[in-house]
Amino acid sequence: MAALARSRKADFPVSRVRQYLEPGPIVLVSSRLRGKTNIMTMGWHMVLEFTPALVGCLISSGNHSHEMVRASRECVINLPTIGLTEQAIGIGNTSGAEMDKFERFGLTAEAGESVDAPLIRECHANFECRLHDDAMVDKYDLFIFEVVKAHVSKRPKHPETLHYTGDGVFMVAGKVIDRSKLFRPGML
Ligand SMILES: Cc1cc2nc3c(=O)[nH]c(=O)nc-3n(C[C@H](O)[C@H](O)[C@H](O)COP(=O)(O)O)c2cc1C
Repeated sequence: MAALARSRKADFPVSRVRQYLEPGPIVLVSSRLRGKTNIMTMGWHMVLEFTPALVGCLISSGNHSHEMVRASRECVINLPTIGLTEQAIGIGNTSGAEMDKFERFGLTAEAGESVDAPLIRECHANFECRLHDDAMVDKYDLFIFEVVKAHVSKRPKHPETLHYTGDGVFMVAGKVIDRSKLFRPGML
C-alpha cells in the first residue's frame, strides 16, 4: 500500500478534545441523603445499554454530590433547557455543602416514584436512577446508573438542550433532520 499523506489539519491539544467529543446535553443531577438535597451540573455522561437502561456518569470525588450519590445509591438526572442556562452554571459553580441549591436557584423539588432523590420540576425531563454498578467509582469517579423511571414533558418534542464545549461556551440543540428511512429495521 502506498504511504498515506500526512494530515493537513492543525494540531490540537489532546486535553481539549472534549470540545468535539462531548455533544450530549448537560444535565442536573439531584440527590438526597439524610434529609438534605443537592444538585450538580454534569456534562460527562454516556448511554451504556438500552435494557436495562444504563447510563455512565462522571461525578468527581471533589463534588459534594459524589458522597451523597454514593451513600444513597440513587439520583435523578434532570434535563434543563436554554431557559435554565444561568441556573445550570450557578449550580455547577457552587457547593451543596454550603447552601440549599433548590432554594438558591429558585427550583422546585418534586417527589419521585422509585427513588427518594428529588425531581426538578422546571426541567424538561427527569430520569430516576439507581446505582447499578460502583466498580469504577474509586478509580474513575464513574457511576453506572440504571434509569428506573422516566418523566418527559410532552412539548416541545425537540427541546433546546444545552451542550457544553468548555471555556464557558454552550451549543444549543437546534436543527432536526429525520433520516429514519435510511436505517435498518431494529437499528433506530
Ligand atoms: C457545564 C458544566 C458541566 C459540568 N460537568 C461536570 C461533570 O460531568 N462531572 C463533574 O464531576 N462535575 C461537573 N461539573 C462541575 C460540578 O457541577 C461542580 O463541581 C458543582 O459545584 C458540584 O456541586 P456539589 O459540590 O454541590 O456536588 C460541571 C459544571 C458545569 C458548569
